[in-house]
Amino acid sequence: MTSPRIPKERPTMTTIGILGTGRVGSNLARALAAAGHTVILGRRAADEETEAREAGVDQSIRFADQRTAARTADIVINATPGDTTLERLRGFQAELAGKILVDVSNATRDAADGLPGDLVYPGSSLAEQLQDALPATRVVKTLNTMLFMVMTAPESLSTPPTAYLSGDDDDAKKVVAALLDDLGWQPEWIEDLGGIITARASEALILLVPHILRRRGFQPFAVSLAR
Ligand SMILES: NC(=O)c1ccc[n+]([C@@H]2O[C@H](COP(=O)([O-])OP(=O)(O)OC[C@H]3O[C@@H](n4cnc5c(N)ncnc54)[C@H](OP(=O)(O)O)[C@@H]3O)[C@@H](O)[C@H]2O)c1
Repeated sequence: MTSPRIPKERPTMTTIGILGTGRVGSNLARALAAAGHTVILGRRAADEETEAREAGVDQSIRFADQRTAARTADIVINATPGDTTLERLRGFQAELAGKILVDVSNATRDAADGLPGDLVYPGSSLAEQLQDALPATRVVKTLNTMLFMVMTAPESLSTPPTAYLSGDDDDAKKVVAALLDDLGWQPEWIEDLGGIITARASEALILLVPHILRRRGFQPFAVSLAR
């Protein structure tokens, strides 16, 4: 079986707004800035803890509140907790209109040990809910099926990993595939599953993750296809 190839559509260097300055957000920010993009990291609050974290981040990355990051960017990446994302991004409808929203989050309820326990949107997905709530935005789901360090170093795994793509707009998926290329993803590692409805499959893969983490700890992995 060969993967449908997604031709790259490189929109020159882009301004990318990342909502969330945590493990995923700051890791993506560093790698996308290193690839030449202008990156604005959207923080929740400018308190002492976030300022200390910011001091350790690449000086080429700018910081702003999340609304400003969404408004200023051409492409917005959601790296905030998935269980509250829908409510939050509904409030950014105007800022996100006409843009690509890359959703890398997982909408889960925690188990007793704090690891993902169950899906917030069984029978649907956060990505579908976002696309419904933000009709003027092109939502693309990707990168939610691996530990954060693999997102920017896919070649580090001994088995080639998979980055699934779901989205209704083919051009938006081409733009996101070009960003994945910037992060080191080879075209044959990118699996376009189809429309946004397919995100319910990749989002459900999170149910494997707590069992892997409990047995093996936080060692880099991706939930991938083998051929
Ligand atoms: N960690 C992974 O390996 C991994 C892999 C795949 C997908 N994901 C998904 O990616 C997302 C981010 O994960 P992470 O590991 O980077 O989490 P994290 O380290 O806890 O960072 C979460 C970020 O979201 C912000 N945030 C938290 N609650 C918020 C709220 N109510 N409103 C606005 N911002 C809020 C936090 O802001 P403060 O700093 O102000 O608290 C922080 O910047 C999650 O949806 C997760 O499921 C994670």
